[in-house]
Amino acid sequence: MISDSIKRLNADWLQSERCLYFLLVFRPMRNFIVVGHKATTTPNFSLEDIPGTSGRLDILCRAVTAAFVISHGIRKDVCVYLIHLGGEIPKTIQLRGETLRHLNPDERTTAALLKKALTLPAAAQWAMSTSGIFVRTGGLVELLADLKDAKLIYLREDGADIRGLEANSLHDETAFILGDHTGMTPEEEVLIEQAGAKVVSLGPTSLHADHCIVLLNWLLDINAFCTL
Ligand SMILES: C[S@@+](CC[C@H](N)C(=O)[O-])C[C@H]1O[C@@H](n2cnc3c(N)ncnc32)[C@H](O)[C@@H]1O
Repeated sequence: MISDSIKRLNADWLQSERCLYFLLVFRPMRNFIVVGHKATTTPNFSLEDIPGTSGRLDILCRAVTAAFVISHGIRKDVCVYLIHLGGEIPKTIQLRGETLRHLNPDERTTAALLKKALTLPAAAQWAMSTSGIFVRTGGLVELLADLKDAKLIYLREDGADIRGLEANSLHDETAFILGDHTGMTPEEEVLIEQAGAKVVSLGPTSLHADHCIVLLNWLLDINAFCTL
């Protein structure tokens, strides 16, 4: 009888909001950071010509799609940070899978969501734009400070083979750092190195950042990393 009530309690707890919160908070997150060196920090760009008017925001939009979009849904355990450096003051947009709404697979919808986030008067604290999308001022320095407890992985063509990463080192929060079409500046590389990131490669061929993210999601999905 006692064990029956414990079973009932567990079943109730498993369906409770607290349990949902616990699962959301303690599930290891896949964080993807993409640096957009020319990406606009203002909403003054045209949805009719995203690559030509926004400082290649299209690259960041495709990274968002690659990170979240799966067949008939979005990944809840993903968080994307887009660093916009194409303005006087850098801005970072954060997209969180648990609460993200209105994301469709097309670039235009994503660009419209980012445009809306860029209309907010950004400050040093995160401000919510739409559900699951937040914006603040600041760039890589601030973000690396926030993620100081995460395992940082910097993706670069000449890094160590990614298959050498240890599976159990990825159980906690992991953040993958990627460049845009111009890669990463020497100054950014110093920051990333000082933050303790491991430099890893997906092979010698230079890929698009969004394609790298698809591969990273796949490698994590199938647990392709080595167990020592
Ligand atoms: C289009 S690539 C950058 C191209 C080139 N590195 C440059 O400097 O112009 C965009 C980003 O994807 C990542 N990347 C591309 N190919 C990769 C590979 N084979 N292994 C690891 N990361 C890669 C890197 O983070 C890179 O900065």
